[in-house]
Amino acid sequence: MFLKKGSTIVVLLLVFYQNTNSQSVDVSKRVDCYPEPGASQDACQSRGCIWTEAPSSSPVGTPWCYYPTESGFTVQSTGTNSFVLAAKTKNPYGNNISPLNVKYSSNGATLLLTIGNDDRYVPPVNFPKKPSTSTESLKFTSGTIGSSDVFSFKVTRASTGVALWDTSIGGMQFADKFIQIATYLPSKNIYGFGDHIHKKIRHNLDRYTTWPMFARDIGPDSGSALSTQNLYGVHPFYMCIEADGKAHGVFILNSNAQEVETGPGPHLLYRTIGGRIDMAFFPGPTPEQVVNQYLQHIGFPFLPAYWALGYQLCRWGYGNLDAMKTVISRNQALGIPLDVPYADIDYMNHYEDFTEGDNWSGFPAYTQQIHAQGLHLIVIFDPAVEVDYASFQRGINADASFIEWARDDQVPHNIQDQYPMAKNTKIMLGNVWPDRNTAFPDFLDPRNNTNAWWAGEFAQFHKTLPFDGMWIDMNEPSNFDTGTYNTVEEQLASAKLSCPITGSDSSLDVPPYPTQAVYQRNGEYLFSKTLCMLGKTAHRTRDFYDTKNLYGWSEARATYQAIPQVTGKRSAVISRSTFPSSGRYGGHWLGDNTARWGDLQTSVIGVMEFNMFGVPYVGSDICGFNGVSNEELCLRWHQFGAFSPFSRDHNSEGMPDQDPAVWPSVANAAKIALTFRYYFLPFLYSLHYNAARYGHTVIRPLFFEFPKDEETLNISEQFLWGSALMIAPALYQGQTSVHAYFPSDTWYSLQPETYGQKMFSGFNDVNAPLSSLTPVFVRGGFVLPRQSPGTTTTASRLSPFELLITVKTNAASSGDLYYDGGDDLIPNDDIEQHPRVHWQFSFTSSIAGGVLTGNCETCSTAVRPPTLDIIEILGYPSSPNFNGFKLDGSSVTLDMTKTSYNSANQRVMISARNMISLMALKKKFTLSFTNLNVYL
Ligand code: GLC
Repeated sequence: MFLKKGSTIVVLLLVFYQNTNSQSVDVSKRVDCYPEPGASQDACQSRGCIWTEAPSSSPVGTPWCYYPTESGFTVQSTGTNSFVLAAKTKNPYGNNISPLNVKYSSNGATLLLTIGNDDRYVPPVNFPKKPSTSTESLKFTSGTIGSSDVFSFKVTRASTGVALWDTSIGGMQFADKFIQIATYLPSKNIYGFGDHIHKKIRHNLDRYTTWPMFARDIGPDSGSALSTQNLYGVHPFYMCIEADGKAHGVFILNSNAQEVETGPGPHLLYRTIGGRIDMAFFPGPTPEQVVNQYLQHIGFPFLPAYWALGYQLCRWGYGNLDAMKTVISRNQALGIPLDVPYADIDYMNHYEDFTEGDNWSGFPAYTQQIHAQGLHLIVIFDPAVEVDYASFQRGINADASFIEWARDDQVPHNIQDQYPMAKNTKIMLGNVWPDRNTAFPDFLDPRNNTNAWWAGEFAQFHKTLPFDGMWIDMNEPSNFDTGTYNTVEEQLASAKLSCPITGSDSSLDVPPYPTQAVYQRNGEYLFSKTLCMLGKTAHRTRDFYDTKNLYGWSEARATYQAIPQVTGKRSAVISRSTFPSSGRYGGHWLGDNTARWGDLQTSVIGVMEFNMFGVPYVGSDICGFNGVSNEELCLRWHQFGAFSPFSRDHNSEGMPDQDPAVWPSVANAAKIALTFRYYFLPFLYSLHYNAARYGHTVIRPLFFEFPKDEETLNISEQFLWGSALMIAPALYQGQTSVHAYFPSDTWYSLQPETYGQKMFSGFNDVNAPLSSLTPVFVRGGFVLPRQSPGTTTTASRLSPFELLITVKTNAASSGDLYYDGGDDLIPNDDIEQHPRVHWQFSFTSSIAGGVLTGNCETCSTAVRPPTLDIIEILGYPSSPNFNGFKLDGSSVTLDMTKTSYNSANQRVMISARNMISLMALKKKFTLSFTNLNVYL
């Protein structure tokens, strides 16, 4: 090419343009270099990043300032399964740590990867890390990005070569308070991370979205199209379904303030502001196996007491015991199944834990009364204790630890010195419900003092009020009105907790990048609505900055561990703030939702997500907590809530009553839905038992069972109990039918109007009457245990057992049943030592007849289950010969008033009093029958 005079400038410009653009990154694959507000070209380029405006057609949220792809660290040396890296790229928020260690290893089929040196903070969570098993394996390979020497790695599935992680997208950083790593993803089918409100169960990777994870006292907001707000707990775990339907999971153990940005690459960018990156990759290949491998790593869920699967009725603002009694008895009078009355903070004396208020003087007697009816009581406890009464004094006497200031000169003595019990301590005082200042127990205290004191308080209070379960709230921890100060004088002038925002003491409270948890709430800080990050925990050994996300987790653990000495029976702890492995110690409710349809819809997703997080005992506040509920919403919410493992109606202070008895239609629908739940409690409990014993989910999204069916991948409003029962609740105002999806399989309706009918695969419009049962379907090929329902779980447990067998052509049907003491403690917390009977059932049929076998897998003679009296078979094509039933070879006389065959819906009912013993001695049984009109 010949250039004329005067072209030089053009050429230079061209060269410059090409240089910039040779680095420019496609709008779908950018690693954001300016995540805080106020990006500008100059500020961006001074970070060594690239600034390219994104055309308006770009994905929503495309960053204009982004890292060059060839950015990160280089390899300084390589060892066995390890690398020492050297920083290459500038970190905008502090100096990158260099040298930096990377190590990987395997634990069974799980691949573990640590980025960060040994001196970095690691959350003190003590996971069991059982080695996982899988038919698949994962492979780690290192490489460099493009033609550069920048380190990257891939984690691939050995069987298919699909890269689950591929960090060649660049942008890795590792400074003391700013760590990030980005990766390409193999598909856009991403699930999990929490807790947040997700409007769909599958993340939307067509846009860029940042989800902060920092435990926060804030109610879920389902009113807007997209709210990325961080809620009460932190769950850095996601699952991905690859193009061929194989699933894998990834967990990052880190308890600092953190966030994840998902983007259209598809890719994700994980950031945290402390600790290190401890990852575990789970190969699946089924979604349920992914959760199972995750739970092998972090720990299996606790087994709730049987009664805790009953319906629970709660509200804040009863005001006095009589109000509570009135509400409980009016629902009982209507025959609504009900197991657990609750008392919220109203019952306390001025909101002081372990006390009772004046309007509640008959509470212990009432508790005895409800116990006599087979009911159980759950009451609330908040972690923050007022610093001027006996419980706190006992804590001080026991040398229990509370979250403290780092140094005495940080203590606002004008507040502290008002309290003789706190005066000579560094305890950080805050304000929650109690009238006066509170202290926050340090449940991470590695000595046993704090937890022993905590358990002792429960035990002592239990002698006065014999409650059965513990509801632990406000444990993010929440502190009201945390303020700021610049000078010590300012701090002293404030009556509330305030944290430094300038000077050397502010380094933890105002770190260089405080995460979107702060940026999303203009003018706030990491400490807003909680304690100062400079606080000391774990008995003065750690910064609250690092451990804050573990507060609810550690309180749940302390509370769970107190149970043997408190109630002495198996119980249930419900915690608002959660962290990976919280499920070992308790369940969770989805927090302060609002009485809106959108909140009902997102509850379904929340329940499914917490099952992925290993917290299967979960549910939302039925009818909605904040705001005024209404008849139709409360009715539909009960129809859904009856199928949440944790099923509780809860209401906020000052709101009109919303217990089922308020509206006859709600009472009717609640009674129908809950009666169905109580009928199938043995099935639900067995799912929980398998979750506790083997690490499984109880509630499953459809894609868990049908991952190769793409249609299931975004079904957010239907779910399964285990593998067998599908619920398709009505979730919209004015809705009369549900457009429900039936994956290709055999499905039978359990709705009374269409009972036993087979459903077509694909989408079906199914009726969802207000006055009948929620759309519920059962899948062919299963055996589900149940018991005729009473109005309490206590009564229901005594009914004879029944089996519902669903036939799938050319396949056997199977299922199992666990029965145990119901509320006996699990010896040494080792479920294998727990006395139980575990029956495994199998049913096969042929043209000639059917055979049901039972095999007692673990059989304790200490457990005395009722007999199996009723067997129902759906989808059975011919009539059995009811005169020819044989149990282990001997004839069985059936009760012909309750035994029948209906050829129209192919339903068999078989009944005989005390037909089959399920006692341990039995070990095995075979029930066989021939069909009529079969001449062989
Ligand atoms: C919190 C809880 C809520 C409870 C209230 C009063 O807002 O999330 O469930 O009713 O405190 O204790």
